[in-house]
Amino acid sequence: MSSTIEELERRREAARKGGGEKRIDAQHAKGKLTARERVEVLLDEGSFEELDMYVEHNCVDFGMEAQVVPGDGVVTGSGTINGRLVFVFSQDFTVFGGSLSERHAQKICKIMDMAMKVGAPVIGMNDSGGARIQEGVASLAGYAEVFQRNVLASGVVPQLSLIMGPCAGGAVYSPAMTDFIFMVKDSSYMFVTGPDVVKTVTNEVVTQEELGGAVTHTTKSSVADVAFDNDIETLLAARDFIDFLPASNRVDAPDRPTDDPWDRIEDSLDTLIPPSANQPYDMHELIRKTLDEGDFFELQPAHAANIIIGFGRVEGRTVGVVANQPMVLAGCLDINSSKKAARFVRFCDAFGIPILTFVDVPGFLPGVGQEHSGIIKHGAKLLFAYAEATVPKITVITRKAYGGAYDVMASKHLRGDLNYAWPTAEIAVMGAKGAVEIIFRGKTADEIAERTAEYEARFANPFVAASKGFIDEVIMPHSTRRRIALGLRKLRGKQLENPWKKHDNIPL
Ligand code: HXC
Repeated sequence: MSSTIEELERRREAARKGGGEKRIDAQHAKGKLTARERVEVLLDEGSFEELDMYVEHNCVDFGMEAQVVPGDGVVTGSGTINGRLVFVFSQDFTVFGGSLSERHAQKICKIMDMAMKVGAPVIGMNDSGGARIQEGVASLAGYAEVFQRNVLASGVVPQLSLIMGPCAGGAVYSPAMTDFIFMVKDSSYMFVTGPDVVKTVTNEVVTQEELGGAVTHTTKSSVADVAFDNDIETLLAARDFIDFLPASNRVDAPDRPTDDPWDRIEDSLDTLIPPSANQPYDMHELIRKTLDEGDFFELQPAHAANIIIGFGRVEGRTVGVVANQPMVLAGCLDINSSKKAARFVRFCDAFGIPILTFVDVPGFLPGVGQEHSGIIKHGAKLLFAYAEATVPKITVITRKAYGGAYDVMASKHLRGDLNYAWPTAEIAVMGAKGAVEIIFRGKTADEIAERTAEYEARFANPFVAASKGFIDEVIMPHSTRRRIALGLRKLRGKQLENPWKKHDNIPL
């Protein structure tokens, strides 16, 4: 008996060593944790239960039969984060560079299948040289099996990717189809073709970091949501983040008890809106003052900052926040902000998370570049996302709500459940000056000024919309949190279904 136990221990030890001390040291020298260390930091202490520790590759080409490492380059299993079940895989760069073989893929697929069956999030830690070159098409098949599951799991269980090393070639498409991507600065990168291929084909010279590093993907491309300084920061942020999300589309997000009074009055919000309509203010202030303890997990903060998206809680329950940011591009909707917010709205809707929308939007961003790049199609994404969403939707217009952008931003007409406006709201087809210059083209400057004042008096307020029932109530800024908390309570039992269809056809 003791020898069989010793044999088990020996086998476990061999698997834990991965690619061996030298490669583990090399991993550490790059400032990276190993696959197992990452799992330990991510999950509650002692909660990890590993599966498939003894799985080996089945490749006999290129001398591979002599190089077998138990586990085959990926650590998989389940554990808990603050007591809630999650499934994880963590690619082990010390074993064949974390490259994906047929068996490595089977291990990932197994935990994805389980996660979907039981309804629990999947968190992938990616650190891989891509397809296991020695295995050829078997490896490509493995990727496709993972891709298929990413798609089937989409909207069923939350999927989070942590990119903590290389992620290149077709391998990028698995994280790309997950809900959120976090990256580590300076040690992770994602690209379809690397700098050498780029140089050969287009003659462009670019570093790995510039082409597909964390900063590039969280500012320019928006492929990733948030960049962190190191592995530990990334993993701890993932723990906080998962706390906001429901385990699946079948259950509610967890409650986090709070001492923050639901009816907290914030007098400072009464003076948040500057006297001049063209002066910006920071929408983050309203968001933080509305949410429990000011706790807001912002996504894509460095991309399309003219719209703010992220999660917070009201009375301990998760809400998704979408807000125009007057400090960037005056809060206009453009292509990037529409795409950014649309995907977020769809995530919230898929997972039953109420959506809180704060509006201060002067319209869509004008420009040849925007038109030629398809603002019509991309702006429609956000409109579509809000219109199809059946989760509770509460909207607060703080200042401008002009033109088509008024309609888009969770207006009453798109089945907004509670549409509030501050007394400072201006709900109109466009700003007063622009409107008057069109209606009274050719008039003198004095006449224009007079008509502008008239237009402002008539339309630069929330009461025309309120008189038509498009605004449910004009609320005092200081009571915004209280009104939202009451609204969310009311809407807890909301039931609304869209007509049956196979799926919709959102403008992609
Ligand atoms: C097998 C691989 C591997 C791979 C790395 N290794 N990538 N083994 N298949 N794809 C092995 C190396 O041989 C080495 O083994 C160890 O992992 C560490 O690699 P190094 O090159 O020493 O590390 P580093 O210098 O940090 O460079 C990392 C790297 C580089 C940039 C990822 O290894 C690399 O370029 N690898 C190949 C990338 C690639 O072309 N992949 C295929 C992409 S196509 P030893 O024994 O020396 O430790 C693809 C298609 C997917 O992925 C399609 C899906 C649809």
